[in-house]
Amino acid sequence: CGIVAYVGHREACPLVIKGLKRLEYRGYDSAGVALLNGEGLKVYKKKGKVSALEHELADKSLHATIGMGHTRWATHGEPNDVNAHPHYSFHKKLAIIHNGIIENYATIKETLLRKGHTFASQTDTEVLGQFIEDIWENAGGTLEEAVRAALQEVAGAYAIVVMNAEDPTQLVAARKGSPLVIGVGEGEYFFASDASPIIEYTKDVVYLNDYEVANVQAGKLSIVTLDNTKTTPYIQKVEMELAAIEKGGFDHFMLKEIFEQPRSIADSMRGRVNADEGTLQLGGLRDYMDKLAKSKRIIIVGCGTSWHAGLVAEYIFEELARIPVEVEYASEFRYRNPIIKEGDIVIAISQSGETADTLAAIELAKSKGATIFGVCNVVGSSIARATHAGAYTHAGPEIGVASTKAFTAQVTVLTLMALAAAQRKGAISDTLFRQLLAELETIPAKVERVLESAEKIKEIAYIFTYARNFIYLGRGLNFPVALEGALKLKEISYIHAEGYPAAEMKHGPIALIDEDMPVVVTATQDSSYEKVVSNIQEVKARKGRVIAVVTEGDTHLPSMVDFTIEIPKVHEILMPLVSVVPLQLLAYDIAVMRGRNVDQPRNLAKSVTVE
Ligand code: G6P
Repeated sequence: CGIVAYVGHREACPLVIKGLKRLEYRGYDSAGVALLNGEGLKVYKKKGKVSALEHELADKSLHATIGMGHTRWATHGEPNDVNAHPHYSFHKKLAIIHNGIIENYATIKETLLRKGHTFASQTDTEVLGQFIEDIWENAGGTLEEAVRAALQEVAGAYAIVVMNAEDPTQLVAARKGSPLVIGVGEGEYFFASDASPIIEYTKDVVYLNDYEVANVQAGKLSIVTLDNTKTTPYIQKVEMELAAIEKGGFDHFMLKEIFEQPRSIADSMRGRVNADEGTLQLGGLRDYMDKLAKSKRIIIVGCGTSWHAGLVAEYIFEELARIPVEVEYASEFRYRNPIIKEGDIVIAISQSGETADTLAAIELAKSKGATIFGVCNVVGSSIARATHAGAYTHAGPEIGVASTKAFTAQVTVLTLMALAAAQRKGAISDTLFRQLLAELETIPAKVERVLESAEKIKEIAYIFTYARNFIYLGRGLNFPVALEGALKLKEISYIHAEGYPAAEMKHGPIALIDEDMPVVVTATQDSSYEKVVSNIQEVKARKGRVIAVVTEGDTHLPSMVDFTIEIPKVHEILMPLVSVVPLQLLAYDIAVMRGRNVDQPRNLAKSVTVE
């Protein structure tokens, strides 16, 4: 979910709505605002996108210099007007917005029900708002004290902002496990889930830490911990530029981000790779390089696309550094009793750096004594801060819900980590090391070449727009690419798609193949080429329709398959960085042709801060 709040001298309503639009990638099944002026504390909310709310508010005059808003990704209670945030408390002395889950809300609700409270919604958030008010009314004292007292009783994760109906200068906010950034302007303050709604007004921000409560009142900001120890706000400059979070002429953020990859891949190597001198540096891992090189085992954790980047890294680490790797879904890892031994390294991969399951997996591994490295895109994110060391991907903000440039940046950085470990360990020859560095520097130009095939890919997409199923196949490093291609398609077009290791197809999915089944095969000329060609023959023999991603100049496959997409020749180890790109475009085009909302597909959210 996305949170925005403002107090200062500007018109709050348009500012909050604009901020919500910037955060809409975080959730978009309903939205709402709360405003406070001479007429009191008013809440407006609406099922659907922020634009539906905006439309609803268009003819109202809503002057206020304090306000807050929320865009939701439903957890408790279906998406509708009532369950949308903000929520009033029982006596309407406050309103609350919340991102996260209050796990023990049912127990708290029970107590409040016994006291005669009633609830308008099914949400855990409304329970928290009423609970805060109840403490405030009974214990006296300030709103901030009541918020702290309530949060001490709460289990779960949250970022909240609370507005006081009696004080148009006050906002109280708190976080545990869900991000919250405070923008500090001249006589004005902003709260938001990330810096994007704020940077237009100020670049000075404070990242609230877990178990901290911020109180803005009468133009002053103070921060205390839940047990009331004062902390000094640490103001940092955000580097994000406005242009980076706007579409810049593209129809969708996803398309813009696909096309940005030549640059984002280069950015993730910038200052790290020097192919001429044959050197590689990862500043954030400098003090940990020995540990990595000596590690007995690497466990990679992540979710979604980040987990796919982990699968690619498994091949690369094992091949180059000869360190055994296990790749785990963070959500599975955290609820087992995983065996972690001395000398184990955990690498957590996350674009947002906020994924709740990944964060919890880190905490678990840490408690068992593992050394944790982060590969995150968002600087200063919770995961980046929870790890011992790491390397940022520096891909720039990714707004499209379906991850594209973050994936290629993750794979780039993980490749650099594997190379650095291999070198330190002496597992790689100097010749191969230098060759791979030089090859890495050619990747941006090769991705650029793939992007030149965009029109051709669009023509293929057109033919398969109405397919009901897809199979994606690949072997070796192209197997995780098949998984990622299938994930992209299902996320944004809602077509059922499965990724499979090409050889494994004959143990099941082959039963699905007939003349209506499109099969996308990544069949580049590498060590498994001949084998993949045999797998393609198995598909063709059953009348499947094959779209093959092939190496430029392949004269054999075009006559065998229905469609080919050519990509430049790339060293096998680096192949996924290039071979994933046509699959991103194919998914994008099909989704657009089917009229889907590509940047905000149904039911998904970019940053999943609930488990
Ligand atoms: C969500 C997003 C995916 C993303 C996954 C992991 O499900 O929709 O695109 O891959 O979370 O996110 P992370 O930020 O941890 O990489």
